[in-house]
Amino acid sequence: MANYAVITGTGAFVPSRVVTNKDLEWEIDTTDEWIRTRTGIRQRYIASDEEPNSYLAVQASKKALEMADVRAADLDLIIVGTLTPDMPMPSVACLVQKELGAARAGAFDLSATCSGFLYGLSIADKFVRDRRRMKVLVIGSEVLSRRVNWDDRSTCVLFGDGAGAAVVTGTREPRGILSTHLHADGRLWEFLTIRALGTAHPVTPEILDKGWQYIEMSGRDVFKNAVRALESVTWEALKANAWTPEDVDLLVCHQANMRILDYLRERLGLPEEKVFINIHKYGNTSAASIPIALDEANRSGKLRPGMNVLMVSFGGGFTWGAVAMKW
Ligand code: UT7
Repeated sequence: MANYAVITGTGAFVPSRVVTNKDLEWEIDTTDEWIRTRTGIRQRYIASDEEPNSYLAVQASKKALEMADVRAADLDLIIVGTLTPDMPMPSVACLVQKELGAARAGAFDLSATCSGFLYGLSIADKFVRDRRRMKVLVIGSEVLSRRVNWDDRSTCVLFGDGAGAAVVTGTREPRGILSTHLHADGRLWEFLTIRALGTAHPVTPEILDKGWQYIEMSGRDVFKNAVRALESVTWEALKANAWTPEDVDLLVCHQANMRILDYLRERLGLPEEKVFINIHKYGNTSAASIPIALDEANRSGKLRPGMNVLMVSFGGGFTWGAVAMKW
């Protein structure tokens, strides 16, 4: 008998400090009007020095575990999608495991930028289909504010910090995750990168002077590729499930730019209420964006049992993907 992977709990957490576009006007050469009209962003949350990635991830996880009514001690696996870990070693997942007391759980981070949560969900799906009783905690968590160059107005206004989490376990009922679709194109990595802080470049004063420790993005190239990839993976997921756009009850897309979300909505002919939007509140939180959105949709009653949910993402690498679910 086939097993299916279901999400039984969601949680999200953001730091307490809100930074509005108006606040940024004081710090850098930008305007609230430019940011709002070009991106849809109105504010973002920024972590303090006492709030590393793992702290946000733990808070989001506690909420997801509580909703799922699962004890941390019963978790089998913790997966964290992130590009801004506390440190290169150990993984954020191991720090989360320690903090939660999830003694039985394996734990690892995965590097798929803004697609990290969907990549993580697809791995959880495979484990749970194999062993129905497995309990997997999938997290997307980022502290991007530490990796943005506050002197580069074309990127620093875009990103925010936060974490989202989901508890995944099995059922015999044909619902939950129906299909997963993962893609990448490493040839285009230079359009969105943090060049240093890995092993490719030593951390020298020259490298730091060049700002290679920060996010670099060729916005227009990313935009063009994002709309193309998001549309194509959406059709791929629809086709795999014999859905038409009308069958989608809620589209939860990575929140990178309001114009990208509008483009996708128009191409699919979806009404506004079927496309979840919270970019105005959080900015682009990379791997955290989809699980934060999912949790908001869940807690606000926008997600109801039986609904067809399509999650789609795109990010540096490039990576992109989709997960289709019956909620
Ligand atoms: O999460 C991964 C996926 N990421 C994305 O999907 C992001 C995709 N890209 C984008 O969302 C957009 O490309 C941006 C929002 C990043 C930029 O929007 P754009 O319409 O492509 O603007 P642009 O970079 O072409 O810049 C247009 C103008 C420039 O001025 P000139 O050269 O026309 O005089 C920029 O200097 O806007 C200027 N500009 C700003 N002005 C005020 C750039 N950033 C700012 C700013 N405030 N913060």
